[in-house]
Amino acid sequence: MSSGDSLSPERVEPLLTGRFGRPYVYEQSCGSTQELLDAGMPEGALALCDEQTQGRGRLGRSWTAPPGTAILASLLLRPPSDRVVSELSLVAGTAVAEAIEGGVGLAVQVKWPNDVMLNRRKVAGILAEASDGIVAVGIGVNVNQERSDLPEDTPVSAGSLYTIDGVKRERGPLLAGILERLEVNYDAWLERGLDGVYDSLGSRDFLRGRRIAVNGESGVGVKIDRDGRFIVDVDGEERAVESGEIAFER
Ligand code: BTN
Repeated sequence: MSSGDSLSPERVEPLLTGRFGRPYVYEQSCGSTQELLDAGMPEGALALCDEQTQGRGRLGRSWTAPPGTAILASLLLRPPSDRVVSELSLVAGTAVAEAIEGGVGLAVQVKWPNDVMLNRRKVAGILAEASDGIVAVGIGVNVNQERSDLPEDTPVSAGSLYTIDGVKRERGPLLAGILERLEVNYDAWLERGLDGVYDSLGSRDFLRGRRIAVNGESGVGVKIDRDGRFIVDVDGEERAVESGEIAFER
């Protein structure tokens, strides 16, 4: 990696190819990038910090990373009011998986409903939060953290791209790739719903065929369905999981 890995506007804006990332709101340190977006901003606005002091994950969890090691970003979307916001976690997770895969050259998967997995470790997470007619799609990608930088008390073991392939990389090109894929996938979702991204999503389904536990029951993962639910086979009976957390056997 060249010295001076930076996500400053001067470094990233020249890499942007579409309408996502405009405006590009960058602060070195913030509480949470989710708080830097507001309803007065246009769709495609991106808030980004090198350090979050109150980064948050799903289900009330925190999200931490040493300064300058990760991508910590929130994208403003304004989907039609009749659309299902939780599907955006899958749309964004698929985009992040595609972009990482382009840079790493290893298969990257999506663990329903919002985790991005590489070598059975979670390397990225998505948090889609709706308020005031906008959706803040939070994206956290573990890029250059050392193993000792990663949290240990997480339901799914955490990894960074560096702990997995030993390569320190510039975050800017990866961020630009994520925004490019996300724009393509978001437009496809606007037009056709999850069907629009299903080829990529379905082929990256981490839980498919695994022994899993959810809501106190054990079963075998069948698939993410086209409505964004997860289908589990419990003793030969298929059940649809609408929300929550699915644990998998190692
Ligand atoms: C999860 O896996 O639980 C979701 C993690 C989302 C983390 C990102 S980092 C950027 C944005 N700001 C936050 O406070 N959270 C999201």
